[in-house]
Amino acid sequence: MSDNLDYSKILEEIYYEVSPYIGSGKVADYIPDLGKVNSNQFGMALCLNNGIEYLIGNADKCVSIQSVSKVYTLAMAYKYYGEELWGRLGREPSGTKFNSLILLEQERGIPRNPFINAGAIVVADMLMAAYEKPLEEYKKFVRDLSGNPNLDINTQVRDSELDYANVNYALGYFMKSHGNIEGEVPEVIDNYTSFCSMEMSCVDLARSLRILSQSGLNPWTKERYLTTSQTKRINAILMTCGLYNGVGDFAYKVGIPAKSGVGGCIVGIIPGEMSLAVWSPGLDESGNSLAGIKALELFTSITGKSIF
Ligand code: DON
Repeated sequence: MSDNLDYSKILEEIYYEVSPYIGSGKVADYIPDLGKVNSNQFGMALCLNNGIEYLIGNADKCVSIQSVSKVYTLAMAYKYYGEELWGRLGREPSGTKFNSLILLEQERGIPRNPFINAGAIVVADMLMAAYEKPLEEYKKFVRDLSGNPNLDINTQVRDSELDYANVNYALGYFMKSHGNIEGEVPEVIDNYTSFCSMEMSCVDLARSLRILSQSGLNPWTKERYLTTSQTKRINAILMTCGLYNGVGDFAYKVGIPAKSGVGGCIVGIIPGEMSLAVWSPGLDESGNSLAGIKALELFTSITGKSIF
């Protein structure tokens, strides 16, 4: 890398600075199996486009990616359907909680964007129409992108979440009543929840999301998966919709396209340069990792690498 930044040292500094925040916030306990995670953990990985990687803390630990899965499923559906996708989904920030029903009623079953639950449920429905075995396709895609053939979903987390997925079922049935879900709602929610229950480390996440920092190329084979325009557009939607109702503050403090999940992961993209992943399970009021946001804020402040 020609920028002469000492990323190992920068990660050490970040780890030191965020230490007081690790363990604060609230672990997501609406999925009982996630509630058991020790909040006193932190990991971070960055993967430069030239393949050089830097890690710190629990960067190798496999954790529940939850809503970060929405990035992979959007990429799959966008590749398959192209612009047709946007007939069933919007591209505007919602300003509401990740599983909110409010806007869906006003907007006749068309979700605001693919990164809120309603949007990702529509994407899951579209993947079911596209593929005979959507979960297998998803696993293959995530394994290929991360270069890790051992990645899998945690069926215990999936089953634990399915027992408490009434709001997601409600979103599904509501959208079905407006003709925006083709499949059977329980099957759609089963797939959606399975996608969320994939387990990956920060290293796997950062490696795989080089697809978005490298203009749509598979990071390993360099084969084109998304067009440059599709890649740019996914990054744009990450920037405006990736952190739910915390997205404005995140743009203000951090300034990179990113996606969070209630397991405590946040992935970030610096287009043309690198992808990053951070994990710490304590969440802020918007459901985003508290120490994770702090770490990314420090990263872009120290390196000057926000997109602005
Ligand atoms: O649908 C759910 O409730 C979870 N499987 C995913 C939610 C999530 O990660 C929201 N992100 N902050």
